[in-house]
Amino acid sequence: KYEKIWLIFGIGSLLVFLSVIGVGAYYKGQQPPSCLTTIDPEKVDQTAPFDQPGVKQVGDNHYQVAIVMQAFAFTPNTIKVPKGATVDFVVTTKDVVHGFEIAGTNVNMMVEPGYVSTATKVFDKKGEYLILCNEYCGTGHHMMTAKVEVT
Ligand code: CUA
Repeated sequence: KYEKIWLIFGIGSLLVFLSVIGVGAYYKGQQPPSCLTTIDPEKVDQTAPFDQPGVKQVGDNHYQVAIVMQAFAFTPNTIKVPKGATVDFVVTTKDVVHGFEIAGTNVNMMVEPGYVSTATKVFDKKGEYLILCNEYCGTGHHMMTAKVEVT
């Protein structure tokens, strides 16, 4: 008699266990990929002039930089901003997915066709910062770089 109860209890716990795994896997599958796309429409004006990419002063010591990526280049290729300025990067791509990383900073995002990726950075130190594509985009991927000059 007791054996039957234990058997039912055993099968019951197995089912509970399996459904916990199933639900867990389902919700994990629903989570976004771990890429660091920074999109904050509240803070950054996304109606950037991509027909005229470049640096635009939008406020007191505040700049917006519109950048268009395309295999295998950035437009513009050199961005000049003053030290201490707040810089909003507004980036898009004409063709395939590219990565936008400013080496040595926390700016690192995916740039997808049809979307605008944004990141804000304050450059406290003078110098040159390397911008690189960190998403494989074709044969010229490794040559796809640009720079920020902070003066
Ligand atoms: Cu663009 Cu890699």
